[in-house]
Amino acid sequence: MSDPNSAIFPRFLTLFITFLSLSCRANSQSSAVNNILHCLNYGSDPILSRSIYLPSDPHFQSVLRARIKNLRFLNPETPKPVAIVAPTLLNHVQGAVICARDNGLQIRIRSGGHDYEGLSYRSNVTFIILDMSNFRSIDIDIKNETAWVEAGATLGELYYNIGNKSNMHAFPSGICPTVGIGGHLSGGGYGNLMRKYGLAADNILDVIVVDALGNIHDRASMGEDLFWAIRGGGGASFAVIVSWKINLVRVTETVTVFNVSFTLEQGATDLVYKWQKIAPNINEGLYMKVRLTPLIIHNGTRHGNMTLMASFVGFFLGRCDELLSTTDKSFPELRLTKDDCKEMRWVESTLFYANFPLGTPVDVLLNRTRWTPMFFKNKSDYVKKVITKHGLNKIWEMMIDVRRSIGGKFYMEWNPYGGKMNEIPESNIAFPHRKGNVFLIQYAVSWHEDDSNVSFHNIGELRRFYAAMAPYVSKNPRETFLNYRDLDIGQNPSNETSLRAAKVYGRKYFKDNFTRLTKVKAMVDPSDFFKYEQSIPPIN
Ligand SMILES: Cc1cc2nc3c(=O)[nH]c(=O)nc-3n(C[C@H](O)[C@H](O)[C@H](O)COP(=O)(O)OP(=O)(O)OC[C@H]3O[C@@H](n4cnc5c(N)ncnc54)[C@H](O)[C@@H]3O)c2cc1C
Ligand SMILES: *[C@@H]1O[C@H](CO)[C@@H](O)[C@H](O)[C@H]1NC(C)=O
Ligand SMILES: *[C@@H]1O[C@H](CO)[C@@H](O)[C@H](O)[C@H]1NC(C)=O
Ligand SMILES: *[C@@H]1O[C@H](CO)[C@@H](O)[C@H](O)[C@H]1NC(C)=O
Ligand SMILES: *[C@@H]1O[C@H](CO)[C@@H](O)[C@H](O)[C@H]1NC(C)=O
Ligand SMILES: *[C@@H]1O[C@H](CO)[C@@H](O)[C@H](O)[C@H]1NC(C)=O
Ligand SMILES: *[C@@H]1O[C@H](CO)[C@@H](O)[C@H](O)[C@H]1NC(C)=O
Ligand SMILES: *[C@@H]1O[C@H](CO)[C@@H](O)[C@H](O)[C@H]1NC(C)=O
Ligand SMILES: *[C@@H]1O[C@H](CO)[C@@H](O)[C@H](O)[C@H]1NC(C)=O
Ligand SMILES: *[C@@H]1O[C@H](CO)[C@@H](O)[C@H](O)[C@H]1NC(C)=O
Ligand SMILES: *[C@@H]1O[C@H](CO)[C@@H](O)[C@H](O)[C@H]1NC(C)=O
Ligand SMILES: *[C@@H]1O[C@H](CO)[C@@H](O)[C@H](O)[C@H]1NC(C)=O
Repeated sequence: MSDPNSAIFPRFLTLFITFLSLSCRANSQSSAVNNILHCLNYGSDPILSRSIYLPSDPHFQSVLRARIKNLRFLNPETPKPVAIVAPTLLNHVQGAVICARDNGLQIRIRSGGHDYEGLSYRSNVTFIILDMSNFRSIDIDIKNETAWVEAGATLGELYYNIGNKSNMHAFPSGICPTVGIGGHLSGGGYGNLMRKYGLAADNILDVIVVDALGNIHDRASMGEDLFWAIRGGGGASFAVIVSWKINLVRVTETVTVFNVSFTLEQGATDLVYKWQKIAPNINEGLYMKVRLTPLIIHNGTRHGNMTLMASFVGFFLGRCDELLSTTDKSFPELRLTKDDCKEMRWVESTLFYANFPLGTPVDVLLNRTRWTPMFFKNKSDYVKKVITKHGLNKIWEMMIDVRRSIGGKFYMEWNPYGGKMNEIPESNIAFPHRKGNVFLIQYAVSWHEDDSNVSFHNIGELRRFYAAMAPYVSKNPRETFLNYRDLDIGQNPSNETSLRAAKVYGRKYFKDNFTRLTKVKAMVDPSDFFKYEQSIPPIN
């Protein structure tokens, strides 16, 4: 991997000669498309031509839709790209970057398409999608405890492939098997091994990217600044991620999972209060999140026909008896018993977390369309101080109030921090949310109606709830997790990136690491080719 350019350079050169003759700027959509097709030498390279989908192509819609995971952005009003380039060869990725750049066209890079705001496939300017989903090879090296995994592979494919080679290895990344490696790792990426091993981005050893000039780099040739930035700073402001070399982590041959629920009437408030003190401080091998769901019951005592349910969903590196000896000591109120424990291999636990029924064969992890898209809006917050019981009761009341007002689902997940997250310095990689966090909140509303009024109402209610949560969460800045993309916290228009606007969202996503990100950006992409609605502008 010391000279990654050498293998592809001859093909790249042929393409490049064509690029040189074509540097005129596009001034209308159709000339933009013609120019870029001409630039790409469309028609004369059959492999490339098969990788380009124009709106007139019968497959255009299905390729576009295949990776749209939020139905809010599947409607006819959402602006469409003028072309989708879904390359299978590295020199075609280079060609797409060079041709888009030379023709003044913006690109949106898409791997798994799970961006909550659809920023990998929608924009208000003329743009093309660079779809990386054909780059999906996974090469596991158990002996060296590493793997190379391409951007378009999914977490599920990675988990399956690790599990196929070893029951003692894992990768500390997210829950949903269809999430793409490209976006997930560059935004941080966490799951239930976070307290033990940190984020996915903390476990990256090397990378192959295509930069704004169309050049290929690995870690050694890009330098440590860019390598720092793309681990937590998001890839799309800096380069096209082609593949990551990751560090595999060790897990026990048997892990234990559980999911126990309590309503308010069953003492949920006391349990959640205590959970805040336990979950971030307990044995790092135990990851216990809480899912809070308002629900309708018929015998509720505090809120009429509604209550709130707290589900404690746990993952433990070890067997049931060890887990119980830990929880009996630190959290006896949970009354966890042997019956609650489910022992399994790590790879099977990824299915449990993705809500598959027990016993589902692990090869469903290979199904990229398994996650059913829905209409949703999610937001996030960081909590730095244990919330009092009084505070919790107020939050429950507000939740029940919001749930009464919306037709869809509404819930929160509280994800404990601590452990390894306290040990890694905030400047280690671009992801800054480390020590001092008790937990991360994810708020979620989802619904089934394809109706802009419903959408407007539900999102409005979620925003109202978020506003009311301000007293309990981080401030100055109110921190936000990049992978839980949220345009409410600030954005730029699609056609320009002002520093003033970028600072607003940038501080929330990256805290003071934002400044270094703008400097790295100035080094690697001074003319700001890689821009989008929440990108990082270059500043010297
Ligand atoms: C159901 C669901 C569950 C989730 N669970 C978790 C979880 O447990 N933990 C967690 O941390 N996150 C989770 N997420 C969030 C997820 O990590 C982010 O949405 C992530 O960015 C998705 O990556 P993607 O490649 O699928 O997305 P995309 O939409 O393809 O991309 C997301 C962003 O990354 C950029 N990008 C994508 N590919 C590349 C590339 N090759 N080079 C450069 N830039 C690129 C895009 O332009 C965009 O800005 C979840 C999301 C969903 C929808
Ligand atoms: C495009 O503009 C519309 C209308 O102003 C806005 O609602 C939408 O969020 C914009 N899209 C993006 C990706 O910024
Ligand atoms: C494994 O690591 C060793 C030592 O670092 C190295 O020499 C070897 O090439 C690696 N194997 C592979 C397949 O990369
Ligand atoms: C590994 O994968 C191969 C091919 O998909 C499959 O036949 C085999 O059963 C798997 N082995 C394990 C241990 O999962
Ligand atoms: C309400 O009913 C459910 C079952 O229908 C029961 O589990 C629960 O304990 C009851 N709660 C109260 C407060 O009676
Ligand atoms: C719950 O109570 C509210 C008002 O107290 C009422 O409007 C609503 O219809 C009830 N819902 C159910 C399912 O009983
Ligand atoms: C845990 O249980 C709750 C309540 O039944 C359910 O909503 C949730 O999906 C479960 N979570 C997992 C990971 O099984
Ligand atoms: C993947 O899952 C979807 C949804 O459950 C299903 O329709 C499809 O047939 C599955 N594909 C494969 C190859 O199993
Ligand atoms: C939104 O957040 C909820 C709660 O954390 C999570 O379970 C769900 O997967 C998220 N929704 C999407 C579409 O990612
Ligand atoms: C949405 O609301 C507007 C104004 O309140 C109304 O005119 C319109 O009919 C509604 N649309 C739908 C689909 O209900
Ligand atoms: C971006 O678009 C807006 C509205 O269409 C326009 O006023 C502005 O001048 C444009 N900015 C650039 C840099 O083209
Ligand atoms: C990264 O961000 C943290 C938290 O805001 C800050 O303490 C640190 O100085 C920043 N590092 C760099 C290199 O900018």
